Amino acid sequence: MLTETDRLVAHVARLGEEHPPIPLDSVDFTVNDPAGFEARFGHVLDYMARVELEVDRNVLEISTMLPNPPEVDKQFYAEVWQPQEIQHGLILDRLQQVLGRPPATTDLDHVGLKLKVLGLLAHLEPFQDVCRMLYYLTGMATERSAVIAYNLLHDGVIETGEHAVADTVIAPIKRQEPGHYAFYQLSARAHWATLARWQKWLVRHMRRISFAPVGVNNVEQLADFGDVMESLGVDRAYRLGLRFGSEGRDLAADVARVEQELLWARDRGLPVPDYVSRAFREAVEAARARAVR
Ligand SMILES: [Fe+2]
Ligand SMILES: [Fe+2]
Repeated sequence: MLTETDRLVAHVARLGEEHPPIPLDSVDFTVNDPAGFEARFGHVLDYMARVELEVDRNVLEISTMLPNPPEVDKQFYAEVWQPQEIQHGLILDRLQQVLGRPPATTDLDHVGLKLKVLGLLAHLEPFQDVCRMLYYLTGMATERSAVIAYNLLHDGVIETGEHAVADTVIAPIKRQEPGHYAFYQLSARAHWATLARWQKWLVRHMRRISFAPVGVNNVEQLADFGDVMESLGVDRAYRLGLRFGSEGRDLAADVARVEQELLWARDRGLPVPDYVSRAFREAVEAARARAVR
């Protein structure tokens, strides 16, 4: 019988075989209306380029937080995930420069103090198991956000008539994200089932106090994220004055569906972890406040 680990190993091997990093010379950077495209999507490309390129820092964070990770995790992040994401970043960054924008400003090597403390504690095996669960939850939310964002961006780019970008930049990138999401989801489900009650309690608590939308490390980036939400048309449910969820797509429910099911299923009545919807609402508000400054 196949164990969960066997399934994960097979999934990672398949991702590696079926999705080699996208070669830069496969991309057609032709843009018919650079100014119009830049005005509508330039900042979205910049945000995504930064987040993709920052996987180099994410790998440092993972190895700090998980001093002794399972072999399959190492294989995934070192041999599949990081090489794919870096290419996404390089391609998107090149595209924004073709539009006349400066390259993304990235933080590739600064690991925060909180993570270093977690990493020290994680030398205790039961605590590393808590960190692993937090890592999988972050991975799930991040990759699910990427799947949604690239789908919406692809639709938007097709609308602008920039078919070279849609077909040779966004489409190939968006094909690689669901496999990442699947890895974290399989891992999260399997790992959650092995945790003791105190570990689950700690995961819920730490997740509640540490959740942030993908790529948000400070107030400026929170507003940037809000701008991206607006450009992709997923901000409406979070605007002030509208009843929560009364209009538009509920991004939080989509991003945190499995997290809700695993961590909070016993809290019936809550469709979405409140810290996720709060974070998205704060992003939209930060973007609006910055726009009127
Ligand atoms: Fe990516
Ligand atoms: Fe990804």
